[in-house]
Amino acid sequence: MAKILTLTLNPALDLTVQLPLLSLGQVNRSDEMHTHAAGKGVNVAQVLADLGHQLTVSGFLGEDNLQAFETLFAKRGFVDAFVRVPGETRTNIKVAEHDGRITDINGPGPVVSAQAQQALLERLTQIAPGHDAVVVAGSLPRGVSAKWLRELIERLKALGLKVALDTSGEALREALKAGPWLIKPNTEELADALGCAVTSPVAEAEAATRLHAQGIEHVVVSHGADGVNWFSVGAALHATPPKVSVASTVGAGDSLLAGMLHGLLSTDTPEQTLRTATAIAALAVTQIGFGIQDAAQLAPLEQGVRVRPLTEQ
Ligand SMILES: Nc1ncnc2c1ncn2[C@@H]1O[C@H](COP(=O)(O)OP(=O)(O)OP(=O)(O)O)[C@@H](O)[C@H]1O
Ligand SMILES: [Mg+2]
Repeated sequence: MAKILTLTLNPALDLTVQLPLLSLGQVNRSDEMHTHAAGKGVNVAQVLADLGHQLTVSGFLGEDNLQAFETLFAKRGFVDAFVRVPGETRTNIKVAEHDGRITDINGPGPVVSAQAQQALLERLTQIAPGHDAVVVAGSLPRGVSAKWLRELIERLKALGLKVALDTSGEALREALKAGPWLIKPNTEELADALGCAVTSPVAEAEAATRLHAQGIEHVVVSHGADGVNWFSVGAALHATPPKVSVASTVGAGDSLLAGMLHGLLSTDTPEQTLRTATAIAALAVTQIGFGIQDAAQLAPLEQGVRVRPLTEQ
């Protein structure tokens, strides 16, 4: 079992609204509504907890609507190291119609002040040592710059910590300069971060070699239903997931990241690490939510994962 810290700088309350058909400009009646505490780092923490790890969760939380987060952290036994900021954590609304169409409306979230950013840096400097890895996942809140994220990662690295990063756009571009230990972009995020199209395995391998030279040990590129390419220094593996029926892809990337950390922080072989991580991500897409309710569900999925060296076809 490992001790892992996840950072969610821009968490969200996910509000799922189910209704037969959305009529714009009309009164709509929902059959079911659910609110739950979310954000990529919180999601990764939940999957890691399902796998038996010990979690500390941190980032910024709006102090006006803490309840769903605090209830989740207490229920899951997470150490809560979130810095509270004035205002409300944003709400992301997902309107799910009966035909499967989903409409997302994402809230803006609070503006995070320079003092709150400094408070988080200080808290992390105190609490991060002693963790086996730190996951930094998701977008940046208003008020937080990509340069600050880069400095945060540099600070964590200077404390001797392994930093796994999953973000996108300007935040990813800037944070790459800090040389995190692991990154997990999807194909679009990778191309965007590098400023060029990455359309073949060869181009991806070349991109990974450049990233390795910047100090990034593990480049995990996710390709949706086509699986995963994992480039570590001197080795490259591809995993093809089993065919599953898709209920929702929410949390697939977070599940893959959690699975990779689980394997890398254990004595598992690279082949086993990627196999299990791919099975965990496949399990996520079979559910409306994500997570591992019953570890027995993983074995048949693991058997259906095909792992091969990337040089072979
Ligand atoms: N239809 C699917 N069937 C099986 N596995 C899937 C499917 N879709 C995604 N996965 C698994 O989930 C992993 C992550 O998915 P994807 O590449 O879409 O991540 P992402 O774009 O980062 O997603 P997220 O929106 O969660 O951030 C894939 O590498 C794959 O292993
Ligand atoms: Mg993602």
